Amino acid sequence: MPVLDQEPSKDLGGGDGLPKLPLPALKDTLEVYLRCVKHLLTEEQFNKTQNIVKQFGAPGGVGELLQSKLMERRQNKANWVYDYWLNDMYLNNRLALPVNSSPVMVFPQQNFKAPIDSLRFAAHLISGVLEYKTLLDAHALPVDYARGQLAGTPLCMEQYYRLFTSYRLPGPERDTLVAQESSVMPEPEHIIVACKNQFFVLDVVINFRRLNERDLLTQLEKIARMADIEEEQLPPIGLLTSDGRTEWAEARSALMRESTNRDSLDMIERCLCLVCLDDATGPELSDTTRAMLMLHGGGAAKNGGNRWYDKPMQFVVGADGCCGVVCEHSAFEGIVLVQCTEYLLKYMIGSPSKLVRAASVSELPAPRRLRWKCTPEIHKLLASSADKLQRLVKNLDMNVHKFYDYGKEFIKKQKMSPDAYIQVALQLAYYRCHGRPVSTYESASIRRFKEGRVDNIRSATPEALAFVKAMTNGEQSTCDKEKMEMLRGAISAQTKYTILAITGMAIDNHLLGLREIAHDLKIEKPEIFKDEAHLISNQFILSTSQVPTTVEMFCCYGPVLPNGYGACYNPQSNHIIFSVSSFRESPETSSAEFVKCLVQGLLDMRDLCNKCNSGSNAAAQRQGQTLETHTQTDTNWQSKTLQTSADLTKNQQTLPQVLLKTPDQTKVEAQTQTSSQGEAQALKNGSKS
Ligand code: COA
Repeated sequence: MPVLDQEPSKDLGGGDGLPKLPLPALKDTLEVYLRCVKHLLTEEQFNKTQNIVKQFGAPGGVGELLQSKLMERRQNKANWVYDYWLNDMYLNNRLALPVNSSPVMVFPQQNFKAPIDSLRFAAHLISGVLEYKTLLDAHALPVDYARGQLAGTPLCMEQYYRLFTSYRLPGPERDTLVAQESSVMPEPEHIIVACKNQFFVLDVVINFRRLNERDLLTQLEKIARMADIEEEQLPPIGLLTSDGRTEWAEARSALMRESTNRDSLDMIERCLCLVCLDDATGPELSDTTRAMLMLHGGGAAKNGGNRWYDKPMQFVVGADGCCGVVCEHSAFEGIVLVQCTEYLLKYMIGSPSKLVRAASVSELPAPRRLRWKCTPEIHKLLASSADKLQRLVKNLDMNVHKFYDYGKEFIKKQKMSPDAYIQVALQLAYYRCHGRPVSTYESASIRRFKEGRVDNIRSATPEALAFVKAMTNGEQSTCDKEKMEMLRGAISAQTKYTILAITGMAIDNHLLGLREIAHDLKIEKPEIFKDEAHLISNQFILSTSQVPTTVEMFCCYGPVLPNGYGACYNPQSNHIIFSVSSFRESPETSSAEFVKCLVQGLLDMRDLCNKCNSGSNAAAQRQGQTLETHTQTDTNWQSKTLQTSADLTKNQQTLPQVLLKTPDQTKVEAQTQTSSQGEAQALKNGSKS
């Protein structure tokens, strides 16, 4: 298998036509860095940092040397930051994948009346996966185009081609993202079905024929019966994949000593995806409960062992109707996951289940149960993994909140960017809860560039801090007009940073590149990366992400720090879904409190807008102008990529965005969307990665 993290540059999605990721000027990055950290540090810390940064950026200094090396790297690579970023963001991270790394999509609650209903659902879903895989194999996915800010440019499609072909192999120090080799004679494809912690090989091509939905159901029924045979049940090996990455790497080495285990691991590593047929877990299935079950499976006592976390796509179909997808994140971003999942759900809605008759007795060979030989050492490791997963289960404090008071449309009417507005609301929520600002991460897609993944929008701007202080300063109250000005300032700063990030000019990837190239060159770690400010600025206590959907479902993930919050949001026209997570073990955090402050902040912000805009729309108009002036007068990188609003509208109206399969269409069509198509337009991929 070729190693993707070393050589990812094969063009799999029209990426050849895309520009290379730019390299920002050193001076610009250092200036932005100082601006981003100043209000998060004490005066003393900041003064020290300022000196260190000055020295780093001095003419003839180490910064210039590293920058020139990065420039060379940019010449020689399709994407100068890709390997560095992949290792830093994912493969070097030793934390367990569930909760800490793997995001999930939670489907609407399904109403299965009998066990066969959940198997039918699974067969229908697998059928959709096979259709989608056919599109991928034929390279027939239409190219995505950016929506939202700076809409209209084509996006890199490479991530899609990793959905069903990659595998995250655990390593003692670093994991490896491996890809299945495409060969002239493709191997017969299979899916792994997990049921009662047992793993079964479901061949989806038998005698050169792809199984239809009825065949798939027949095979799933056989699997469900086989999984029930108690005397054949094997230990829940999947639990090992929920452990820390180093622990799992060691356990895998122990497993590999037996040829039976090697064969089973090989089958799992080469499968298209997993389908996890989960047992029912309990009566109460609120959004929050389903989110938690999707994130960790409920621990070893529930469905925690019915998973294989290394595989990018695990479709969960619970007997109680709790369904969704668990995704290993290193291969692609949530936006690609959403696009694929929406295709599947739309396929399922659009093509009614083709199971009119009961499945007949079939000639198909029975699916094969994967065998494991477990030494006492493996049993011990399994017990330890189960304990750790249980701790994670107890620790996760999740709160899914559907905010129904307003959504994107209200915000757009204020002539504000909905994303920037929600980010400012998250800053306000954190400040209300904790009385201080914290370093914040918001993922920004850089798929406009070859092999582009994401960079960071540092949403804790000084302007946001001024606004949240004004909104929470009680007695010494600032007047509404001033608060409104501050809100506009905060939104403008956020929007500006967003544009910086999506045009490849943000600072996080650049600083990472400078640090890593110094390491490659065996230069002593520059002071700027040892400085306390660097540590503080990279402790993302608020880890946020917009993951919009057009089908009823939502995304969630855990915090990235023990005292942090994960905050994922899904803005809809008239409501917003928030998934907030934190850890119970932290005495500082509470997801319920955070949500309470968030709701209060969103209501306060709406009241403020209404008060200040009532009677005239002039203020809102002014806001639009403020944003435009900003973007048009900024430095070269902005003017190069900036489009007029007329261009924006034009592009939005003509670009093919939608993959839609209706019952009577046998092929997938690229549909043209217009921005006036309301909710339906949202089959967009937007500038979300
Ligand atoms: N007035 C009126 N409308 C405005 C506006 C303003 N001042 N500013 C923006 N809008 C409109 C946009 O035109 C857009 O309209 P559309 O819904 O018709 O497309 C809409 O509001 C949304 O724009 P905005 O809220 O500014 O956000 P965005 O869609 O540009 O998204 C990011 C911003 C940063 C979220 C996006 O660029 C991105 O990078 N997404 C990827 C996130 C990601 O990777 N998530 C997964 C992580 S695993």
